[in-house]
Amino acid sequence: MFLTGTMRINEQNHLEIGGCDTVELAKEFGTPLYIMDEALIRQNCAAYRDTLAQLYPKSQVAYAGKAFLTMAMCRLIEEEGLALDVASGGEIYTALQAGFPAAKMIFHGNNKTPEEIRLALACGIGRFVVDSFSELELLANLAAEAKKKAKIYLRVKPGIEAHTHHYIQTGQMDSKFGLGLADGQALAAVKAALKTKHLELRGLHCHIGSQIFDFKPFQLAAHTMLDFMQEIKKKTGFVVEELDLGGGFGIRYLKQDNPYSLTAFVELIVSSVKEKAAEHGFPLPKLLLEPGRSIVGEAGTTLYTVGAIKDVPGIRRYVAVDGGMTDNLRTALYDAKYEAVVANRVYDRPLEKVTIAGRACESGDMLIWDIELPPLNRGDLLAVLSTGAYHYSMANNYNRFPRPAVVFVRDGKASLVVKRETYADLVKNDLIPGYLQPAEQKTAKQVEKNF
Ligand code: LLP
Repeated sequence: MFLTGTMRINEQNHLEIGGCDTVELAKEFGTPLYIMDEALIRQNCAAYRDTLAQLYPKSQVAYAGKAFLTMAMCRLIEEEGLALDVASGGEIYTALQAGFPAAKMIFHGNNKTPEEIRLALACGIGRFVVDSFSELELLANLAAEAKKKAKIYLRVKPGIEAHTHHYIQTGQMDSKFGLGLADGQALAAVKAALKTKHLELRGLHCHIGSQIFDFKPFQLAAHTMLDFMQEIKKKTGFVVEELDLGGGFGIRYLKQDNPYSLTAFVELIVSSVKEKAAEHGFPLPKLLLEPGRSIVGEAGTTLYTVGAIKDVPGIRRYVAVDGGMTDNLRTALYDAKYEAVVANRVYDRPLEKVTIAGRACESGDMLIWDIELPPLNRGDLLAVLSTGAYHYSMANNYNRFPRPAVVFVRDGKASLVVKRETYADLVKNDLIPGYLQPAEQKTAKQVEKNF
């Protein structure tokens, strides 16, 4: 077990986060519940922002909203002085509704729709990260139509395979994201962008993947991008002024995970960029980083109530909780691993090995295979750690389970930032066409007779 941020075990042997007893949170807000440690989120924002500002003043940190985005989160990000990476019209809309300035948004996506692009142009989005030739053309046409000049980055595939799950690798050549360096597509796109009237090429972008611990691929990506900037200068005379190196820095999910501190990570990135820029006699570009997971991941905890417990003799004990793949897709999708604690009696002994199952109709709906926990009973509270990134944002309504509520906790106070979905929410977009309307109400007896 490990504790992060403001977590502590209180006198009643309960898990406390942000000064709030999680047993009380369960009573007040129900379970499953996403609990976000606001102080830790702010601390992580500050670590990126301040380290970067100190070592590399021409810089900007953009929080990657896909990790976790709600209107309250947008407010927090703006208060912390970060920009925002958005990946869809829905994320742009959420941020605009929260009063986040469009000019501080960076718009990503490998297939932005014309409607999304129009929305982004109309609100004055800060940067478009163009992912393909096809998008270059579409954006140019839509910008012309809107009589605007779109400020763009080109997303480059640096050809680097970071050591992480295949599904979250993005920098390799065979990827749906970005324009290849090795095959000359990135350079051709630079030339095309420079010739296009309604586009203003401001910089380059790359993102090599996510949940990466090893520093080498980041260093290699930075070097490769600066080499490419040098090549662009030689071949076109154009000096790239902004360089966005994406996100991807890994966090701790298990006790044995040991990521660099955010400060150390930023220091390493900065020195890689400075080294190469000096080697090329290049002016330092404005440097952007887009962390998502490393800002919110460890700050999130999901609280569940234990329900059915089933022994499969000689094989394993399944402990089912009141959530699962509908609030945490990561175990099913990436074979992700987690730590958990029994929130209402953290230090109980002895430990026994169990498997934590979800309640969806899917055998792969497991949260944790084989974890040592105190013997569990129906009604116990289980807290799964490091669930702040890509959990709420990937939640779904399989089996028509309503999605959980989200609370921010801070200084002993819990604030609801997303309400729990209701059954009414689940049917609010459903329509019954006239020809399917029930003809007449049947009594329970009539129904039973025809069953
Ligand atoms: N920038 C771009 C262009 C990205 O595509 C991503 C993540 C980020 C920044 C932020 O990366 P981070 O710092 O969070 O690693 N659903 C997966 C992760 C997908 C990441 C997608 N892109 C998961 O649950 O592990």
